[in-house]
Amino acid sequence: MTTSGAANSAVSSSYDAHFRVWRGDAEGGGLDDYTVEVNEGEVVLDIIHRLQATQTPDLAVRWNCKAGKCGSCSAEINGHPRLLCMTRMSVFSREDTITVTPLRAFPVVRDLVTDVSFNYTKAREIPSFVPPADLGPGEYRMQQEDVGRSQEFRKCIECFLCQDTCHVVRDHEENKEAFAGPRYLMRIAELDMHPLDAAEEQGLDRKTSAQEEHGLGYCNITKCCTEVCPEGIKITDNALIPLKERAVDRKYDPLVWLGNKIRRRE
Ligand code: SF4
Ligand code: SF4
Ligand code: FES
Repeated sequence: MTTSGAANSAVSSSYDAHFRVWRGDAEGGGLDDYTVEVNEGEVVLDIIHRLQATQTPDLAVRWNCKAGKCGSCSAEINGHPRLLCMTRMSVFSREDTITVTPLRAFPVVRDLVTDVSFNYTKAREIPSFVPPADLGPGEYRMQQEDVGRSQEFRKCIECFLCQDTCHVVRDHEENKEAFAGPRYLMRIAELDMHPLDAAEEQGLDRKTSAQEEHGLGYCNITKCCTEVCPEGIKITDNALIPLKERAVDRKYDPLVWLGNKIRRRE
């Protein structure tokens, strides 16, 4: 019997990889070793699924889309925050040991699943867009440049890889209360740059609140958040640095200083 060339190459492209996967829960755990089959074109999430199907049916992992769009399969691969579904096995050599661990900045629920509710708490603390009082729905007009700026930020899939990698909270649980993290400072920047946001008319100064309530000053623009963003959003250059500049402009604006002084006297 003859075998086709395509079938031959498919067989030869399979191999056994060495994986180390963190197993445990909030009480503790450790790395377990597995040897698992890898086929051409697969991503790390495929291998985790094969592990579940063949060796560890109780291995917990969170995922939904397997297309880099839902942001739920975030974990750490060889210590780097990554999406499991967007990390190709072909980036590793066949001899590599691939270590998969849960996000380090958040509490473990079980195995690769972490409790990311810190991020939802921070999201709720940011006042939403304030519509202009004199315009009705359908009457909003914006320059394309302003639309483009917020569109970049709106590509966020809320994977929280940037939150996980930021050194301000990664090893410093004590900073979490005062620091919103790059994803939510970016949200404040987006709203502050929105030409139709009427927050100031309502007495909400987003720049000052970013500094005083959401910990903008903790960020020392290391750009680690930008480096891990799977959507390629320039978080530091396009959101955090401009927000810092706007906050400083506001702080040292002589008219604002005079206004504050008069208000304090009154
Ligand atoms: S640039 Fe700022 S927010 Fe981003 S990782 Fe560095 S310190 Fe954190
Ligand atoms: S900004 Fe990027 S890294 Fe951060 S949550 Fe959004 S998509 Fe993920
Ligand atoms: S499963 Fe949706 S981003 Fe990975």
